[in-house]
Amino acid sequence: MKTVGVGLLGFGTVGTGVIRLLNQDQPQVEQSTGYHISIEKVLVNNLNKERKINIDKHLLTINPDDVLDNPNIDIIIEVMGGVEQTRNYLHRAFQNKKHVVTANKDLLAVYGPELLQAAKDHGCDLYYEASVAGGIPILRSLTDGLAADRIQKIIGIVNGTTNYILSKMSREPVSYDQALGEAQSLGFAEADPTSDVEGLDAARKMVILSHLAYSIPVDLDDVTIEGITGVEREDILYSQKLGYAIKLVGVTETTNGQIDIRVSPTLLPSTHPLAAVENENNAVYVYGEAVGETMFYGPGAGELPTATAVVSDLISVVRNLSLDVNGHHIFIPSKEKQCVSSET
Ligand code: HSE
Repeated sequence: MKTVGVGLLGFGTVGTGVIRLLNQDQPQVEQSTGYHISIEKVLVNNLNKERKINIDKHLLTINPDDVLDNPNIDIIIEVMGGVEQTRNYLHRAFQNKKHVVTANKDLLAVYGPELLQAAKDHGCDLYYEASVAGGIPILRSLTDGLAADRIQKIIGIVNGTTNYILSKMSREPVSYDQALGEAQSLGFAEADPTSDVEGLDAARKMVILSHLAYSIPVDLDDVTIEGITGVEREDILYSQKLGYAIKLVGVTETTNGQIDIRVSPTLLPSTHPLAAVENENNAVYVYGEAVGETMFYGPGAGELPTATAVVSDLISVVRNLSLDVNGHHIFIPSKEKQCVSSET
């Protein structure tokens, strides 16, 4: 059996999940791709940190060159986060003809079109299913499953941390700070949870969804963003009495040739399917001109759900390798930027 070399940039929650899944599912991956996956190097910050999973210490490195310039590595999995340095690493990876799988929504919301173009220029794949809604295969659904349709509107609960906080506060007498602390200890929240609770994480995901839905680049600056820091438990309980749930909702829609993207705490009637989405779960409602209404639901954060999306992308890249093709399943926007409005 042929072997494909894989390098990881980062070994936090998602990286651990990726190694765990690969250890556990290697026979299934081999059967589905015809390749043995060999982890060659893992970039970490600290060689001596205690890990949640057993790993050969010789695989760990603090030198990014050991991954980016490693001739035994064909595919890089980027789960380190960050934007500017990571952008440079990915450009180097493509220059070195390495395919990339990433979970990095912060990076893709800003540099997605640029990186997709760089991947294409070098004949490489760039897959990023894990960047939006964790374990829900929503990007593939937009680019493949609904490829024939014109998407008109997407409504999403795409941040697990805020959904966890709001649903926890609606059920139990916990404060906002307590609920946030739990989301952090469960590993859903970002290292700096400000981007979760102020709506920026959801906005980045709505930008990525909008890229794919409308096939044009969209700027994060064009998104109207309001987070949940102003929501009090009393607001939640009062809304419940009136038959509503408060959810942090992202909306992207086209109206009269303009795209409007916004993220805000929203009152949803308790009968609305999105009102029933609890804890760290995510849900994405997609309205297509031909198909009508579709909805995708599942875990939006956490080690194994997110790692599932990463490893599924890895399998896609390996299958492409075996066929000697590039499978940019993500559309690269080619049209000039159209009118993008943040007015509501
Ligand atoms: N902090 C993110 C969330 C992690 O809570 O949804 C998954 O992107």
